[in-house]
Amino acid sequence: MTAQLDPRGDVAVLVPAAGAGVRLGPGAPKALRLLAGEPLLVHAVRRIAAAPSVHTIVVAAPATEVEAVRAMLAPAAPVTVVPGGAERQASVAAALAAVPAGPEIVLVHDAARALTPPHLVESVAAAVRDGHDAVIPVLPVVDTIKEVDATERVLGTVDRSALRSVQTPQGFRRSVLVAAHRSAGDALTDDAGLVEKQGIAVTCVPGSELALKITRPFDLALAEHLLTTGA
Ligand code: CTP
Ligand code: MG
Repeated sequence: MTAQLDPRGDVAVLVPAAGAGVRLGPGAPKALRLLAGEPLLVHAVRRIAAAPSVHTIVVAAPATEVEAVRAMLAPAAPVTVVPGGAERQASVAAALAAVPAGPEIVLVHDAARALTPPHLVESVAAAVRDGHDAVIPVLPVVDTIKEVDATERVLGTVDRSALRSVQTPQGFRRSVLVAAHRSAGDALTDDAGLVEKQGIAVTCVPGSELALKITRPFDLALAEHLLTTGA
């Protein structure tokens, strides 16, 4: 059944989904690869649409797959689909340009984090609503981290307690994200990085292990397992 989005919601979610998935190995663009018989993007969009504050979802699809993605997502939720760009940042910018007037909170969420629970969408949005300009979900770093030189010689051990592993959705006051993208220079892998460059404070909220980014074949296998255990 197609989910209904809330016309009184205050959140737009941008879903960059135009990447190739090189690290996953040969095959279709990553967002279209199957996880338990359905494309990663369908899993991701269905969970976003289940978050009660969501008013609009805009997907940036691989340019050659826009029509296919529209058809694929139609049964899951009402979404706008635009062609993505060569870099993630360009895909996010294309999706941002397609957000209608209304939502003043904008979240950016990787299609590759297909099992992200709706409550994480809500908690990031709530922190922006509470007055934070930029919000990122994070997890503590569990491994010991070493800094090395070009010959793999260890230079030192980094203080892990001060490090965080960053997920999506990342949430922003709309005007903050628009300004950050307008003045963006070098392509970065995350949107909070653009906002940091503007000197704007970025706030952390607890992330979720289910928001893992499916990057390599191991992650896909792990996601399949998580689905069989109820994710
Ligand atoms: N993405 C995008 N447009 C791009 C590149 C990436 O919309 N030009 C999206 C991906 O589809 C993904 C998210 O950004 O949902 C995070 O990127 P990543 O995990 O690196 O995915 P890919 O770029 O597809 O994977 P790889 O780097 O292994 O090719
Ligand atoms: Mg990539």
